[in-house]
Amino acid sequence: MKKEKIRNLIDIKDFSVKEIDELIKVANDIITNREKYSHKCDGKILATLFFEPSTRTRLSFESAMLRLGGKVLGFSEAGSSSTAKGETLGDTIETVSGYADIIAMRHPKEGAPVVASKRASVPIINAGDGGHNHPTQTLTDLLTISREKKRLNNLTIGLCGDLKFGRTIHSIISAMSRYDNIKFILISPDELKLPDYTITEVLEKNNIEYVETNNLEEYMSDLDILYMTRVQKERFFNEADYLRLKDYYILDRKKLDNAKKDLCIMHPLPRVSEINPDVDDDPRAKYFTQAHNGVYIRMALILKLLEVK
Ligand code: CP
Repeated sequence: MKKEKIRNLIDIKDFSVKEIDELIKVANDIITNREKYSHKCDGKILATLFFEPSTRTRLSFESAMLRLGGKVLGFSEAGSSSTAKGETLGDTIETVSGYADIIAMRHPKEGAPVVASKRASVPIINAGDGGHNHPTQTLTDLLTISREKKRLNNLTIGLCGDLKFGRTIHSIISAMSRYDNIKFILISPDELKLPDYTITEVLEKNNIEYVETNNLEEYMSDLDILYMTRVQKERFFNEADYLRLKDYYILDRKKLDNAKKDLCIMHPLPRVSEINPDVDDDPRAKYFTQAHNGVYIRMALILKLLEVK
């Protein structure tokens, strides 16, 4: 395969809306016809190179490849790779390109997957780069929204918590801004507001309606989706700031009193304290369904990038 023909997923915008809708269709077919897909990747190898901790993204990628009949290799922390001896990311990627057919990588540095894609001879999937983007979480989110709400348009979406460092937030805004009649309620403390460039370059440029507030309950009754996020401890320079902000929002049953009966409560997980466990039994809580959906959309993604029909 010629290098310029390789498709990567670095940013959710690398895929058109049509391609995303097609991935969702394939993921839904996988959910109902699992057996049909169990040998689609026989003989193929996925490398998971995780320079940052993960439970869901790494394991759901590995589960996805195993469920497609393929095999997996990789590492789950930089310290167990030759990065610890000073190897550059580019050298690691060029090496692993000879060991695997596709690479999913997570890295603490924003832009690292772009650097990797320049040295790779196999598709690169961004499994999260610093506080920047997390496109496969967004694919998971879109599959979940489309299954729960039966649509990806005409939605009022509350995004709550760490909108500054939350990479899942940046990616979902970018993705949902391409669907019709989406309104965002941006709920955060002042210190963790959505970056200005996302407001101007994504929301305002695309004439997307949005409201900023620091009150979780103010717009609760308007929401179709409430997407909670963790305050990203690992991105703070100052522990005192983290400690001050980490419990700013705690969603509990009481706060849902005025919410719609068909509200869809989401969270990319892991959660710390921002959703009280008393919400877990509420039928509107979809965050574990969301985590499980990650396997199916990643199966669809692997098939697409490996050009398996
Ligand atoms: N949602 C998510 O990225 O979870 P992990 O950090 O466990 O992969």
